[in-house]
Amino acid sequence: MTSPDWLESWSTEEGAHRVEMLFAEVFDDGDAPDGVWSAPGRVNLIGEHTDYNAGLCLPTALPHRTYVALRRRDDDVVRLVSAQAPGQEWTTRLADVAPGAVSGWGSYVAGVAWALAQAGHAVPGFDAVVDSCVPFGAGLSSSAALECAVAVALDEVAGLGLAADDAGRAELAAACVRAENEIAGAPTGGLDQAASLRCSEGHALLLDCRPGLSPLESATPVPFDLEAADLTLLVVDTRAEHQLVDGQYAERRATCEKAAELLGLSALREIPARSLPGALDALAPHDPDGVLRRRVQHVVTEIERTAEFADLVRAGRLDDVGPLMLASHASLQLDYEVSARELDLVVEAATRAGALGARMTGGGFGGSAIALVRKDDVDAVVATVQAAFDDAGLRAPGFRLAPPSAPAA
Ligand code: GLA
Repeated sequence: MTSPDWLESWSTEEGAHRVEMLFAEVFDDGDAPDGVWSAPGRVNLIGEHTDYNAGLCLPTALPHRTYVALRRRDDDVVRLVSAQAPGQEWTTRLADVAPGAVSGWGSYVAGVAWALAQAGHAVPGFDAVVDSCVPFGAGLSSSAALECAVAVALDEVAGLGLAADDAGRAELAAACVRAENEIAGAPTGGLDQAASLRCSEGHALLLDCRPGLSPLESATPVPFDLEAADLTLLVVDTRAEHQLVDGQYAERRATCEKAAELLGLSALREIPARSLPGALDALAPHDPDGVLRRRVQHVVTEIERTAEFADLVRAGRLDDVGPLMLASHASLQLDYEVSARELDLVVEAATRAGALGARMTGGGFGGSAIALVRKDDVDAVVATVQAAFDDAGLRAPGFRLAPPSAPAA
């Protein structure tokens, strides 16, 4: 079998160099960009499809980042070039950005400028180029990495100063979520943007997604010292592409909202785990095929698992989180029905080869899975996963290491 495909992250210097070179090439008027900014993709340790239910999530930032070189303009024109779409310039005027008015990858970028303006900030036009080692469609939040890199860039060139502290970063994250929901048209929750802007190196971030919380209440850094525990967080890219703008994600979200409404609640978070049986009984008359029951069961139990996982991490008991990861995966596979054959295969093979725990991460329907692995077992886990894909006739997966890394800057 061929050697494993390790997908390395770029160093900050390499990322900056790439976008500076591309900037000089495409905007060849001799004026340099005002700076280079970057933002990470994320993995979510646990707490999946809970953010839009006002629940808990526990992401870490990846070392893989999206880089942007940006220069402010004196007018309201936006010109964008991506290394991932060579030769195609994406252009708009900020005055023309509105829900439904722009499309394509540039809508994630222009959307951030629009959302900041909606929040009362004066944002100029700009020329920008982007390049990224956060893969598109791998469930690692490439869209959030793009939005958040642009958010910190605009924050600085417009002199907003929001990136200086966590409260300001929470505001930037909210603008990125609006960009994604209202301009790009993807009805995602806030997990990815909060992770990219508010995570910190060596930490996971416990997010509490109830609306109206203060920044201090909504995100708590939890030390996540893999090194000290002799553990590695392995990310397996199944290369089965997922796509959040399609109907499945929106459909899950709508089902959860419907269930909450039928129960007279504003969000499923309001159901404590001990009240789950009663809630499911109350839904039964509206639920001939059991879909509401399965979705609600996932959300309520997943929120509880996330709280337990965070408690174990806080207590330094990283060795004990594996069963929670496996239970989370099973719940996403069987009750929430967002897994994919490739993701199930990673979980099964990694566990067989000695991983402490493994699960799909992110929205699902393809994308990536994570495995928590003893350092000494990494090679065996990688080889076993690779062999399982080979035996199943699937394209070889890619592997990444995910030490908890730094936020957008
Ligand atoms: C995607 C969305 C997030 C979150 C996850 C599932 O990553 O962008 O908001 O809902 O799926 O946990």
